[in-house]
Amino acid sequence: MGLLDHAAELAEEHVAPLGRRWNHVRAVVGRAEEAAVAVSEPDRDTLVAAAWLHDIGYAAEIGHTRFHPLDGARYLREQGWPERIVNLVAHHSGARFEAEERGLSAELSEFPLEDTPVMDALVTADLTTGPGGERLTYDERIAEILSRYPAEDPVHRTWVRAAPILKECVRRTEERLALVQPR
Ligand SMILES: [Fe+2]
Repeated sequence: MGLLDHAAELAEEHVAPLGRRWNHVRAVVGRAEEAAVAVSEPDRDTLVAAAWLHDIGYAAEIGHTRFHPLDGARYLREQGWPERIVNLVAHHSGARFEAEERGLSAELSEFPLEDTPVMDALVTADLTTGPGGERLTYDERIAEILSRYPAEDPVHRTWVRAAPILKECVRRTEERLALVQPR
């Protein structure tokens, strides 16, 4: 079985039982496939596999700390997934900001942060897809997250800090896409 089939199968096993989140994950994969031309060809499977696996840490049998990027990355590392995919899952969509709020920065730093077009494309795919798989702009997605958590909630505080930085990931991806797909 190829890497992508394996990733899709593992994601289905653990995320499909979560219902709505499975719609989100499948839509993020679709967005990652669209954004794949923004990364070099040898990196495209890494991007799409990470999209399949990015939320696997939400599964109850995997989510031991209840911080899904860390739980997902630890699980994938244990299962022998390639290091880059593990590290992308660990740090997807600004996980380092929430790790700080939760006091889990040391744990997350078990995984090196990759700051590349692949990470930018993964962030873009995740943060332009709503919780049920709907297609949103980045600003709509951030507004949606902020509206779900009260201002004093650590998640809310996280996103207030992270939003401008992650917006740059989306902007860079859009710039790369415009270069390869001129209008
Ligand atoms: Fe996600």
